[in-house]
Amino acid sequence: MIWPMLGLALCATFVQGFSADTYMHKAAYKHQFTKAVGGEPEAPEFWAKSAQDSLSEKLKSDRRLGEAKNVIMFLGDGWGVSTMTLARILKGQEVDKVGFGEEGQLHVDTFEFSGMSKTFCVDAQVADSACSTTAYLGGVKTNTGTIGVTSDVQLGNCTAQKIPANQVSNILAWAQAAGKSTGIVTTTRVTHASPAGAYAHTSHRDWESDIDIPLDGKDCEDIASQLILREPGKNINVILGGGRRKFLPFNFTDSESQNGEREDGKNLIDIWKSKNEPNVNATYVETVDDLKNVDAAKADYLLGLFAPSHLAYFHEQAPDQDPTLTEMTEKAIEILSKNPKGFFLFVEGGRIDHAHHDNEALRSIWEAVEFDRAIKKGDEMTSDDDTLIVVTADHSHAFSFPGYNVRGENITNIAGYGDDTLPYATMSYANGPGNRTFDDGLRHNISNDPIHTLDYKQVPLVPLDSETHGGEDVMIFARGPFAHLFTGVHQQSYIPHAMGYASCLGPGLTYCSDNKSNSANYAISNISLSALIIISIVSYFCR
Ligand SMILES: *[C@@H]1O[C@H](CO)[C@@H](O)[C@H](O)[C@H]1NC(C)=O
Ligand SMILES: *[C@@H]1O[C@H](CO)[C@@H](O)[C@H](O)[C@H]1NC(C)=O
Ligand SMILES: *[C@@H]1O[C@H](CO)[C@@H](O)[C@H](O)[C@H]1NC(C)=O
Ligand SMILES: *[C@@H]1O[C@H](CO)[C@@H](O)[C@H](O)[C@H]1NC(C)=O
Ligand SMILES: *[C@@H]1O[C@H](CO)[C@@H](O)[C@H](O)[C@H]1NC(C)=O
Ligand SMILES: *[C@@H]1O[C@H](CO)[C@@H](O)[C@H](O)[C@H]1NC(C)=O
Ligand SMILES: *[C@@H]1O[C@H](CO)[C@@H](O)[C@H](O)[C@H]1NC(C)=O
Ligand SMILES: *[C@@H]1O[C@H](CO)[C@@H](O)[C@H](O)[C@H]1NC(C)=O
Ligand SMILES: [Zn+2]
Repeated sequence: MIWPMLGLALCATFVQGFSADTYMHKAAYKHQFTKAVGGEPEAPEFWAKSAQDSLSEKLKSDRRLGEAKNVIMFLGDGWGVSTMTLARILKGQEVDKVGFGEEGQLHVDTFEFSGMSKTFCVDAQVADSACSTTAYLGGVKTNTGTIGVTSDVQLGNCTAQKIPANQVSNILAWAQAAGKSTGIVTTTRVTHASPAGAYAHTSHRDWESDIDIPLDGKDCEDIASQLILREPGKNINVILGGGRRKFLPFNFTDSESQNGEREDGKNLIDIWKSKNEPNVNATYVETVDDLKNVDAAKADYLLGLFAPSHLAYFHEQAPDQDPTLTEMTEKAIEILSKNPKGFFLFVEGGRIDHAHHDNEALRSIWEAVEFDRAIKKGDEMTSDDDTLIVVTADHSHAFSFPGYNVRGENITNIAGYGDDTLPYATMSYANGPGNRTFDDGLRHNISNDPIHTLDYKQVPLVPLDSETHGGEDVMIFARGPFAHLFTGVHQQSYIPHAMGYASCLGPGLTYCSDNKSNSANYAISNISLSALIIISIVSYFCR
């Protein structure tokens, strides 16, 4: 009896030892190999020196105090930390081609200050893009699916959405009130949840055009109408993205032979164009070439709707139709920066989220690389002295980066093998639509799958028609005046309050009011000091 047990124990030790050994061997091999093809030698001195260099850089970095004339907020929809890390590796391997890839750098890695945002909503542990946009633009947490309204408004309650006391203002409106220029740029429909947080008050994120609203809510204004007809939407200087059909009547055929969908007969694009007056230049564009031809020096207002719905994914963009997020960001900043009072710009990498919902990991990671490129462009076009740039996400995804891949492994590769001897991928989802029918009660064997293709759906654990968001905290990165306000762990709704402080916007505490009250405090203490001296003197002589 004892012998078979001893044998088993020995066997287990052997198997464990063997697999650890194999792993070490594979890693060492890969390391040698990459050094041989020109990777930087990574002796201990290398790591110590790079740490010392970072330390010197950090010691030099200083908090910037002073008013932020401009604020740019970059929002990666669904841009969780695993998405960000994988984007860094992919960029390192495929774009910058540095060493193994992991040592590459996203532009956002260069930001001096970072913190974390707690994304839960009033009624939910895990956020959707609607309640979260109300938090990171309006500064107030609210219910899932609602935008720009307080938590007194239940999902789809038209009556409640119209009550002024239930409507939440936001930093874009504050910027307009201060005479700044404003803009929104996105790869989704401009009426989609995230950008709608900049201008709409709605009890339902899906009410993008009037056809989306059920009959009993028809007297409730849809999101597209709010953008074109109401404040602050109608005053936004630059609006770039997709969603043309939300603005056009159902019997109107657009330049891409697609019909509009509005039932109220309104052509909101024509209404928008009527801003064009002798001394106001309002330009409407539909293609990337038209966008490039816009003379920023002349344009006061620019509306660009490049697709009937969302813009195509970066890798599927028609070169003569769709602008990249970077191109849109560039044009927006050129136009907005003409205002001597400054500007507020919201830029969304909106489709990182969509690819994740479809379990298309590689596509999502490429969208994240593209998002980072837009951040770089925005940073290069502005100065840390007068522009606060904040980069964050609305929520994460049920997306992880498991396994013990060797350094430099292709992120689309198999990461390892389960105890069932079947392989698992480097990019993994807890749920979503990529499930395959079970082969003989076993997990699907991905060995022969086209795992390197953009539209490959990773096999999730739980089959679900759409992969879900994830509830862990997301990053906030910042640079420019008062960027240090974003360090630490904060409620998502803190973000616009801190941006408002730095740029002297909004009803809360701002640098300018704080600065004045600081001076006032000084004055009071100076008066008290003088008073004290006088009292002392008087009391000395009046003894
Ligand atoms: C990863 O695999 C794909 C498909 O084989 C290939 O196109 C790509 O170049 C690979 N990347 C690296 C860094 O090896
Ligand atoms: C909708 O909101 C209004 C105003 O707050 C409230 O009186 C009404 O009961 C709500 N309707 C529903 C169905 O909850
Ligand atoms: C669309 O329908 C409306 C209302 O029926 C009509 O007035 C309009 O002329 C139509 N437009 C086109 C382009 O057919
Ligand atoms: C308005 O701006 C557009 C786009 O830059 C330009 O082509 C056009 O000439 C301008 N119109 C006027 C009247 O300045
Ligand atoms: C998975 O597929 C590969 C390639 O067809 C095959 O070699 C391997 O044996 C399969 N694994 C299992 C556990 O069936
Ligand atoms: C995913 O799972 C669902 C539910 O079990 C099933 O109906 C569907 O066929 C599966 N999808 C695939 C691609 O096998
Ligand atoms: C107040 O603001 C002015 C102008 O922005 C600045 O020069 C000054 O240093 C500020 N004072 C304090 C106490 O922050
Ligand atoms: C108050 O006194 C301090 C110290 O003398 C001085 O620096 C400051 O400018 C004074 N403040 C005002 C408002 O006079
Ligand atoms: Zn989503």
